[in-house]
Parts: sequence; structure tokens; C-alpha cells
Amino acid sequence: MHTRRPRYAGRNPRAFRDKYKELNPDRFPAEVDKVLAAGKTPAGMHRPIMVDEVLECLRPAPGEVAVDCTLGGGGHAEAILARVRPGGRVIGLDVDPLELPRTEARLRAAGFGADEFSTHHGNFAGLAQAIAAHGLSTVDIVVADLGVSSMQLDNPDRGFSYTGVGPLDMRMNPARGRPASDLIARSTEAELARMLDEHADEPHAALIARLLKAAPQPLTTTQAVERHVRIGLNAALPSLAKPDVKMSLRRTFQALRVAVNDEFSVLDALLRALPYCLAPGARVAILTFHSGEDRPVKKAFQSGYRSGVYSEIADRVVRASMEETRANRRASSAKLRWAVRSDALAAWP
Ligand SMILES: C[S@@+](CC[C@H](N)C(=O)[O-])C[C@H]1O[C@@H](n2cnc3c(N)ncnc32)[C@H](O)[C@@H]1O
Repeated sequence: MHTRRPRYAGRNPRAFRDKYKELNPDRFPAEVDKVLAAGKTPAGMHRPIMVDEVLECLRPAPGEVAVDCTLGGGGHAEAILARVRPGGRVIGLDVDPLELPRTEARLRAAGFGADEFSTHHGNFAGLAQAIAAHGLSTVDIVVADLGVSSMQLDNPDRGFSYTGVGPLDMRMNPARGRPASDLIARSTEAELARMLDEHADEPHAALIARLLKAAPQPLTTTQAVERHVRIGLNAALPSLAKPDVKMSLRRTFQALRVAVNDEFSVLDALLRALPYCLAPGARVAILTFHSGEDRPVKKAFQSGYRSGVYSEIADRVVRASMEETRANRRASSAKLRWAVRSDALAAWP
């Protein structure tokens, strides 16, 4: 059936919803290749980061059982699935109820049946319960690629980014918790300042918190926050360069997202659960994107190594190659750490 393309101004669509070719890679593969060749990520597609490096740390082998704690678009899971065949399986966990079925459908279409790939809707903070629900007490491989996917980031309706107009939401699971607009409304200026400092190391945390609370109207859209903070920063700090204002805006959005999804607490819960979910000799790899994520991972692996829970850990952080960083800007901030579970017993505290 012929469908009329969406109407938009200019030669190329700018809004996420209008990028119908990028959103339908099966129908328009050449267009998608063009976007990728330009070093960009097509709308609605997540490009997995450091896949080769992750595989090198995890060494998936036929017959093994793996959990991808952050299934996203399924890039890492797909690479692991291909290596645990025959006889192995991957459980793909994600807190996002909107993208999870899409990724499941994509991997089914790629030929992975229910015997080797299953999904689990839930938070990785409950990793032990998730694997128990699939009849397992421990697994051989765990991978987590923290943060949000490009699908979540690109879709203005999810409210993660200010590149399109959208509700100020930022919930990875829109059925739970409160949106970012609520968080701003019910937090005090001091709480917001602490949040900006602790969740994103924002140097102008106090000023931005004041701006957020002093808005004449409640801030309910991503663009309203962007405009209000940008104008306020320029007025209060006229010598601040444009890229610095942009960085502060990015950090403001990051801090709100971390708070809305309670990201630091759930990461701590995952790190605490890992020793009990990994079989002796099992491997775990975690990709982080800012120091607030990397620090706890590094500490947990180091203290697990000292106490004998891990027999081996990464002695230095693994970074993306120059080539990947050039092709995918998001890879430049990625840090990969890994650990190997020892034979030592670990009892739940
Ligand atoms: C960076 S993406 C992962 C991309 C994936 N590795 C791929 O190859 O496509 C992060 C994903 O983790 C999910 N996520 C983030 N925090 C989570 C949590 N606490 N529990 C479960 N899923 C989470 C997000 O919803 C998102 O889909």
C-alpha cells in the first residue's frame, strides 16, 4: 500500500516523527546507510557501544546463560546470542515497557526463538528476582550498558532531550514514579542545587536551581527548561561561552534524569546483587557514561576483588577506539569495566 510521506518544511525532515525513512530501516536501508556514513545515528536506532570490547571481556561460549540488564535495542544481546549458540540463552531485561516489545520483535525476526532468547520487564535492581523468575539462581554472563537508548533520547514524547518539544517526563518506565516536571515543582531550591551538583557535577548548580524555581510558569516541557536555563545563564554570567552554556544544559538534563529514575540507588542495588547472581567463573561487564556511574562500579569491583568475591577485575578502564568514537559521538564518554566471579561463597547479607 502506498503511504503519503509526512508533510514538513524544507527538503529534509527535522522533527523525529517526520523522519519516516530513518524510522523504517527495513524499507529504506540506503537512507539509513547514508546517515550512518555521515557519522550520525539514524532516528529511532540505537548503535551498541564497544561491542568487540564487551565480547572480549565476557568471552561468551556455546551453552552459556547470559543476562543483558539493559536490553535497549538489543545490540549487545544479539552479539552475545550469536556466541552462546548452540544450547545457550540470553535474558534481556529492561525497565522500559515501550521499547522492550519492539526489541523482542526485532530479535525474533532476526531468528532468535523463545528457547534461546527471552525478555523480562523490570529494573536491574531486582536482578536476583528476575533470574529466579526464569528458573535460574546464577548465570554465566551479565552485561549492563547504563543510561538511556537513542530510541528514548530521540523520541520527544519521552521528554529526555530538548532537541524536540516534549513533556518534561524522563521516566524510563512511564507507568511508575513521577515526571521531571513534578520533581522540579516539589523540590526546594537547595534540593535541586544538591541534585545538580551530586548527579552531574554542575559548576553552576546553585544558579540553575534558583532559575528553575524562579520560572514565572511551571516548567512542563523540555524546551521550556532549555530556554529558561539558557537565557538565565546568559543573563547572570554574560562571559560564559556558548559551549559552556550547552554543557550546563546537558548536565541539568542528566541530573534530572538520574533523579527521576533513581539511577544511583538502582546501580548500587545491582552492584550488591551481582556476587550472588554470578556462577563461579562468571563474567560481568558494565559500560558507564559519566563519573557518577563509573565511580561506584570501580569501587564495587575493587572491594569485591579485595574480599575474594571476584578473582580478576579490570586493572584499568577500557575505552572505545578512535574509529568508533569518530563514527559515534556517544562512544567517547563510554568507560567499560569488568570482573570475574571467583569460587568463593557469598551469602546474602
Ligand atoms: C544505553 S541503553 C542500552 C542499549 C543496548 N545495550 C543496545 O545494545 O541496544 C540503556 C537501556 O537500559 C535501560 N535501563 C536503564 N536503567 C535500567 C534499570 N535500572 N533497569 C533496567 N533497564 C534499565 C533503558 O531503558 C535503556 O533501554
